[in-house]
Amino acid sequence: MIEKAQNKEWGTAVGGNGSNRNIILVGFMGTGKSTVSRLLAERLGWEALDTDEEIEKAAGKSIPDIFAEDGETVFRDWESRVLKAVLGGERRIVATGGGAVLREDNRREMLERGWVVALTADRETLVRRVSGAGEGPRPLLAGDAEERVAKLLETRRHAYDFARAMVDTSKRSPAEVAEAVLQGLPFERD
Ligand code: S3P
Repeated sequence: MIEKAQNKEWGTAVGGNGSNRNIILVGFMGTGKSTVSRLLAERLGWEALDTDEEIEKAAGKSIPDIFAEDGETVFRDWESRVLKAVLGGERRIVATGGGAVLREDNRREMLERGWVVALTADRETLVRRVSGAGEGPRPLLAGDAEERVAKLLETRRHAYDFARAMVDTSKRSPAEVAEAVLQGLPFERD
């Protein structure tokens, strides 16, 4: 089920006492992080949080507006601050934006504060999903989505490798992905 699961003890992942249990979903745009996070939250009775949503609340404007008016660096600064804040809690399922993994500090923070799972998908699946009805605008995919996805995938080829587990979502429903994540958890559910 799980394509990769490093043999790390949960206690190690959270600094020894096991009290900071969170699940953090990373992955490229269109891998289904937000949907899966909500399903996981239902299954575990934990809280689902989405860094993109928290950024919009904190900044008081949409992500496309932040990119357009303030630029990507300002967006990334928001992202780092929000990530740190949401990881301050426990029993949270945190869906991160696709680029949250780009800063080393963010990656370290995620690994320290929870169980990091990367959701993956093949290029065709990603293009289909990000082009689907009901998908909000993504500034980094503006223009030709197919071309943008291909370029960014290349740039981010190894960006998600730091995760402790990886689940390919291409041929799985969100419920099946959630189940695969649950099966790979290194701790008892309660
Ligand atoms: C981004 C992904 C988006 C959002 C922003 C930048 C990225 O989130 O954070 O548009 O750099 O990959 P999703 O992965 O939820 O689409």
